[in-house]
Amino acid sequence: MGKNTIIEGGRFPKHIAIIMDGNGRWAKRRLLPRSVGHKHGMERMIGLMERAFELGVEYITVYALSTENLKRPKEEIDGLFNLMRNHFREYIGRVCAKGVRLRAIGDTSLLPEDLQQILKDSEAETAKYEGKGINVAVCYGARDEIVHAVNRAIEKGEKVTEESFANLLYTEGIPDPDLIIRTGKEVRLSNFLLYQAAYSELYFSKKMFPEFSDRDLDKAIKEFSKRTRRFGKTDDQLKK
Ligand code: IPE
Ligand code: IPE
Ligand code: MG
Repeated sequence: MGKNTIIEGGRFPKHIAIIMDGNGRWAKRRLLPRSVGHKHGMERMIGLMERAFELGVEYITVYALSTENLKRPKEEIDGLFNLMRNHFREYIGRVCAKGVRLRAIGDTSLLPEDLQQILKDSEAETAKYEGKGINVAVCYGARDEIVHAVNRAIEKGEKVTEESFANLLYTEGIPDPDLIIRTGKEVRLSNFLLYQAAYSELYFSKKMFPEFSDRDLDKAIKEFSKRTRRFGKTDDQLKK
């Protein structure tokens, strides 16, 4: 599939989601401000996106900011917003210029207006692209997403099915992630894609996000290719 050159046989992930955690600790260990960790993290993310698309991955979802992160000190949140303000267009533009559609998932109304505009413009500029996609989860929380979807269903006055409910989520139209990678040593989902991750393969790395290299990504994909995804069935059923 794609230009995949790292695995022979086995399964290749169409959609990878990344919980980029550990920017702050990475900086702290180097006696640097947390904001420097976030800047390095953002640069690393772009590198990983380029690598993933080169290998043939079709969708990448990045957990950039959770609804709970908004409770961090104002100084850190302002720093993150400034990072987006000053670098998002340039960095993401570089990846999207290769035919990648950008979508923001989350309650973006919680962002400053100029940032909402930057995201809207990027979404509009890239809406013409099909096939490859970057989803930026910003002001995203899975519980918030589910509650939001339930309220939409109530407004419509219709009972939901698993499929119709999925279409009320921020990730409408995006396939579920095959592989979710979390860096930064913690082994949890921290309110990320709780509905969509029902059968995702999970991969945890002890590396802090700014030091998660392209080779580390390759390693995660290789491990994914060796996993058996049963979706509730038996091994014998899978052979048929
Ligand atoms: C992840 O890194 C990025 C965001 C949550 C914005 P952290 O900022 O959580 O870094 P640590 O976990 O404190 O090291
Ligand atoms: C998860 O990291 C959120 C993002 C990576 C954006 P956190 O640092 O917020 O997670 P917890 O608080 O350690 O669970
Ligand atoms: Mg963290």
